[in-house]
Amino acid sequence: MVAERLLEGKVALITGASGGLGAHFARILAMSGAEVVLTARRLDLVQAGAAAICDAGGRAHARALDVADVAQIGPVFDDVARTVGPVSILINNAGVGGEGRALDLTPEAWNQAFDVNVRGVFFCAQAAARQMIAADLAAAGGGRIVNIASIAAHTVLPGLSAYNASKAAVGMMTKALAREWARHHIAVNALCPGYVETDINAAWFATEGGQRQIHGFPRRRLMDAADLDAALLMLAGPSAAAITGTLVTVDDGQSLP
Ligand SMILES: NC(=O)c1ccc[n+]([C@@H]2O[C@H](COP(=O)([O-])OP(=O)(O)OC[C@H]3O[C@@H](n4cnc5c(N)ncnc54)[C@H](OP(=O)(O)O)[C@@H]3O)[C@@H](O)[C@H]2O)c1
Repeated sequence: MVAERLLEGKVALITGASGGLGAHFARILAMSGAEVVLTARRLDLVQAGAAAICDAGGRAHARALDVADVAQIGPVFDDVARTVGPVSILINNAGVGGEGRALDLTPEAWNQAFDVNVRGVFFCAQAAARQMIAADLAAAGGGRIVNIASIAAHTVLPGLSAYNASKAAVGMMTKALAREWARHHIAVNALCPGYVETDINAAWFATEGGQRQIHGFPRRRLMDAADLDAALLMLAGPSAAAITGTLVTVDDGQSLP
C-alpha cells in the first residue's frame, strides 16, 4: 500500500528485477511515482514486468543487464541516462544464494556469489554515483543507493558461508561508499531482509529442514515481500536525506537468538 507519490520525478534502476524481491521493489517504487528501469539477465521477464507496471498506470522500462559482467554495467547506465534520464535511485538487488557447505564449496560457486553479490553491487553503485554526481542532484534532494544485503550480513545462516561473507562485504561496502559520497548528497544504505519465499530459497523451504527452520522463527513464519515496503521507501525517498551508511534490518525477528 503506497500512500503518497513521494518519488515523483525520480528515475529508479533496479537490478535483478526479473522476479522475486526486485520485481516487487520495482512495482512499489513505480506506485510511489518513480520512473523505473527493471534490469536482469532475463530480458523477457523484465519486459513483462515493465509492461505490467505501465498497464497499471506507472512508467517503466526494461534493460538486459548481467551485473557479474562488469563490461555491461557502464553502457546500460549510459543508455538509461540518455533515453530515460540520470539514475537518481539505485536498488542494488541482484543476488544469488551461493549454496554449498564450506567443505564442498567450489571456487566457481564462491566466485559466482562474489561476482554477483559484491562486485556487481560495487560497480553498479559506482556507475549510479557517477551519474548522480554529474547530474548534481543535491538541489533535488540527492541520490539514493539501496543495497539489498540480508540478515546474512550480521547473522550466520548455517551452510551458507559464501553468502554470509558476500553480504557482510555489502554491509561494510555500504558504509565505505556512504562516507566517500556523503559530500555529493548520495545516501548509501543497506536493507537487510529476513527470509521471504522466492526462487532463491523456495526449494529449501519445501524440505523438512526448511519447514523446521520456519518453525524455529519467533513468529513461525516467513515474511511477505510487502513487509519490506516501508523500509525500502524510507531509504529510497526523501526521508533518507540524513540517513546514510546504515544497515536496516527487517526480519520479523528471525535473527533474534
Ligand atoms: N528472499 C529472501 O529471503 C532474501 C532475504 C534476504 C536478502 N535477499 C536478497 O534479495 C535479493 C533478491 O533475492 P530474491 O529473493 O528476490 O531472489 P530471486 O527470486 O532468486 O531473484 C534474484 C534476482 O537476481 C537476478 N540475478 C541473479 N544473477 C544475476 C546477474 N548475474 N545479473 C543480474 N541479475 C541477476 C535474477 O534475475 P536473472 O536470473 O533474470 O538475471 C533475479 O531477478 C538478493 O540480493 C538476495 O540475496 C533475499
